[in-house]
Amino acid sequence: MDKKKAKERIEQLTREIHEHNYRYYVLAEPGISDYEFDKLLEELQKLEEAYPDLADSNSPTQRVGGQVTKKFPTVRHKYPMLSLSNTYSREELMDFDKRVKKALGNTYEYVCELKYDGVAISLTYEDGELTRAVTRGDGVQGDEITNNVRTIHSIPLILREDPVSDLEVRGEIIMPHKSFLHLNAEKKNKGENAFANPRNAAAGSLKVQDSKIVAARNLDCYVYSANADNLPFESHWESLKALKKWGFKVSEDVKKCKTIDDVFDFINHYEEKRASLPFDIDGVVIKVNSYARQAELGYTSKFPRWAIAYKYKAEQAITTLNDVTFQVGRTGAVTPVANLEPVSIAGSTVKRASLYNEERMAELDLHKGDKVFVEKGGDIIPKVTGVDTSQRSTNMQPFSFATHCPECGTKLRKNHGEAVHYCPNAKGCPPQIQGKIEHFISRRAMNIESLGQGKTELLISKGKIRNIADLYDLDYHDLIGLEKTIVNPDTLKEKKISFRDKTVKNILDAIESSRNVPFERVLYAIGIRHLGETMARKLARHFGDIDNLKNASRDELLAVKDVGDKVADGIITWFDDPENLKIIERLKEAGLQFSTETDSKQERGGALDGKALVVSGVFSGFSRDEIKEFIAQHGGEVKSSLSSRTDFLVAGDNMGPEKRKKADSLNIPIISESDLQKMVRE
Ligand code: IVH
Repeated sequence: MDKKKAKERIEQLTREIHEHNYRYYVLAEPGISDYEFDKLLEELQKLEEAYPDLADSNSPTQRVGGQVTKKFPTVRHKYPMLSLSNTYSREELMDFDKRVKKALGNTYEYVCELKYDGVAISLTYEDGELTRAVTRGDGVQGDEITNNVRTIHSIPLILREDPVSDLEVRGEIIMPHKSFLHLNAEKKNKGENAFANPRNAAAGSLKVQDSKIVAARNLDCYVYSANADNLPFESHWESLKALKKWGFKVSEDVKKCKTIDDVFDFINHYEEKRASLPFDIDGVVIKVNSYARQAELGYTSKFPRWAIAYKYKAEQAITTLNDVTFQVGRTGAVTPVANLEPVSIAGSTVKRASLYNEERMAELDLHKGDKVFVEKGGDIIPKVTGVDTSQRSTNMQPFSFATHCPECGTKLRKNHGEAVHYCPNAKGCPPQIQGKIEHFISRRAMNIESLGQGKTELLISKGKIRNIADLYDLDYHDLIGLEKTIVNPDTLKEKKISFRDKTVKNILDAIESSRNVPFERVLYAIGIRHLGETMARKLARHFGDIDNLKNASRDELLAVKDVGDKVADGIITWFDDPENLKIIERLKEAGLQFSTETDSKQERGGALDGKALVVSGVFSGFSRDEIKEFIAQHGGEVKSSLSSRTDFLVAGDNMGPEKRKKADSLNIPIISESDLQKMVRE
């Protein structure tokens, strides 16, 4: 075949395949068999291979993927992608309607649509051809994922009929339940982690570099808006009709509503129908139909005033309560946990749910084998909201609250007036030991983070450490070769931890460096109750060393600025315990800093001593917390709001104009991040 003929055939095949693709994926009315379709596609692929210069980036062959994007470029949106104000309350929806009525009189109508639970996408078409697809990102700019989006069959690569020359279309990319279940089953077989819900699966899939993998994920897309400088219609409804005509998938589940009562009918209808839809929705979107009326209402800085999302409450399911177990937290607090017959709620499997405390458990009056209602909202831990007592039989046994700690067997206690039971064996109860050690090694304390993520659990379970001082006795031979499989109790996912040469060296290095951590952080790290970072810093400065602090009377403690009863009691109780004193002695021997004199930063004296600073805005070199720490380390005090006693306002980017005005009116010098560093160096 000569090139001219090849070109003609390529064009014909392209047209035909696009048409069949549209019929199959958008209209769900296939015109030919899969076999015939594959034959056409194969013929086109062969021709494109033979004449690569005739292959087009919007050829139907692009649907199968193959393009690899190493890094998705950041692109600015032509029209910012705003979000919608949303509500769970019918009253607030009535209020929205009142506001609309007040502004527009009685001459308006709404369009109700589903609120698809997926990933928002902006699709740009130039002269009818898809040229780019960009994620929402922060609304101003997003990631360009065009190659991946081309694999989604319901997104036209070339528009049908009357294209507007420069068109932007918005919609939601979703993963239908069928694709989601298939993908997770496949992941499970491969021993990989499953996606928690279809939205995460869609978002994760769109960020895969190899578009062949994206093609296999069977994503779908519903569009819900068109933007162009001169759109040839006057209402949202007309735009939906046009989008359909151009070849997009527009949901049939849309309705024009004249009154708010019609809107509620739509909401009620889909609240019921929701469970049987083939994809997730999280609510309904209500939009004023006429573009002119939309323009009259306008926008706030974040949302259009002409639209609102009504979100459905968390999804519920009924399942069997198999058991109630008790979980001991890092602080010793004991939480009852419902162990459930696994049930799927909003796309993820729920096996456990929190029962909070004894009171809540008693209110629910749970019996073994009860049918319970379980709710899951957003990312919050699932909870049991009620019992279907009509399904209870007389021989079912009630649950009662644990009397002893499930971890160490100690009798549980409850403080007068508090709802929480706790295990008093703070020093011998494994999760509590772990809690203390995790606090000690945390970044803002001793910063031995190479010991994080399950490694402390391993060391405790192997009997290598029982308290914070034991860390400084560890050597290479204690650690090398240790291993354990740790199970996350919520997800039941297993993770193997093993100590190889590099891990061990990193841990020992971090322990070594922690010997230089200044006293104020050591004081915070040892875990005196109610002693936060700021208070630890104040006390370290005031008393100078640990012995002065230990010997301070209650009155002397209370005389320190901001020290109240709670902190004073916490300190006294802590030093009253001989085991804590032993730990301090061992840590001293290990070379930790227990006085401000040996603290190098203190020796230089505080350049900001006695100064009050307010920090505002975003910083490039430091995080906001780091700036605050920096100020405190040099003797300054960070205040949350400006007053006549403020010495400096440290301003980053995007500081609000009001703050600047106020600082000016109070004659407070405004300094930058680098000014601050200079002040300290001088
Ligand atoms: S319209 C300016 N319609 O909800 C309003 N959004 O909170 C533009 N969404 O980012 C959005 N279904 O990802 C609109 N039928 C629908 C929608 C919808 C889902 C998502 C979209 C948007 C978010 C807004």
